[in-house]
Amino acid sequence: MPQRVLITGGGGFIGRNLTRALIERGATVRILDNLHEQVHGRSAGRHRLGSDGEVVIGDIRDASVARRALVGVDKVVHLAAEVGVGQSMYAVERYVSTNDCGTAVLMEALIGNPVERIVVASSMSIYGEGLYRDADGKLIEDMPTRAGRGDGSSGWDPRDGQGRPLVPVPTPESKRPSLASVYALTKYAQERLVLLMAAAYGMQAVALRLFNVYGPGQALSNPYTGVLAIFASRLLNGRSPLIFEDGRQRRDFVHVDDVSRAFTLALEHPAAAGNVYNVGSGRHRSIREVADMLAAAMGRDDIVPEIAGKARAGDIRHCFADVEKIRAELGFTATSDFAHGLAGLARWVASQEAQDRVPKAREELEQRGLVA
Ligand code: UD1
Repeated sequence: MPQRVLITGGGGFIGRNLTRALIERGATVRILDNLHEQVHGRSAGRHRLGSDGEVVIGDIRDASVARRALVGVDKVVHLAAEVGVGQSMYAVERYVSTNDCGTAVLMEALIGNPVERIVVASSMSIYGEGLYRDADGKLIEDMPTRAGRGDGSSGWDPRDGQGRPLVPVPTPESKRPSLASVYALTKYAQERLVLLMAAAYGMQAVALRLFNVYGPGQALSNPYTGVLAIFASRLLNGRSPLIFEDGRQRRDFVHVDDVSRAFTLALEHPAAAGNVYNVGSGRHRSIREVADMLAAAMGRDDIVPEIAGKARAGDIRHCFADVEKIRAELGFTATSDFAHGLAGLARWVASQEAQDRVPKAREELEQRGLVA
């Protein structure tokens, strides 16, 4: 019997890609999405989703919508969320409401209509700063974020008590969470709520802690989305990408096709139940490097990025995934080559129009003192 899967937030970047991947595997997919204008643009509509699966348009916080969406479903992928770290630092009520109340409503609806398994999209943001090693080889789990360190004078990179530089190393799932933004706080609550409620009601749950997901289909006009979509939108409009800090901060970029494959495994693999996994490429790159590579892929290496020399509130310096657990337990390894992935992104971007809302977003953050 083919699986019947509900994807909350199924109209989004990851949701649409996953919908296609699941349908290809013979699943029946229902999408629940509010098609928010910030993400989907003013002309957001069903036409972009229609062929992908059955669509329920509504708000995850509406209990009757959530109950309706669950009818006849075997498994749930919970992606519905507000996703901007910077924006979460002022639109606090909106983020807590959608991400946490939304998850609460979904979990309550599941009490009356339990499913076999629920997979929730958690985030690398819950780690705060990634794991570091000091000059003596000791692992440092609790490096405060820059804002927490309050050491604006000592450079961008974290240092130990004697001022010696710390080396960032891959971050495993066992690292203690350290919540540096409202977004991170809501994602952690989402992850825990799903795991504990599922256990209490005899459902299987899996949390995937996604690193920096990129690829075709990311909302180009949403100035609070991932950095590659933001840079692509800037370059498409002939403008310089704006790089926070000095551009040497490092991240783990994972292609959306790999992420969809990880979700598929999380839905199906018997060993996944009750577990939390990092989903990353296992490689890390600096933001300056990815800005340059993207500009080259888009044929716009004439555009030089602007280095802000300022940090965005809630940002961490370095974090990249230790991907051993998901490899060992689910047999998952990200296979997309980054340069190839960027070329695909560039091709897709060339066919799009993107409204450049970055200046407005920057103004919003700066007015509130959230870039310093
Ligand atoms: C954050 C979250 C992550 C979430 C992602 C997308 C953390 C630690 N992680 O990742 O869970 O999925 O946002 O919402 O909070 N940057 C620029 N210029 C820009 C935009 C971003 O230089 O115009 C820089 C940021 O300062 C950061 C890096 O690019 O250093 C990556 O930013 P972003 O894509 O927003 O993702 P993260 O902050 O890594």
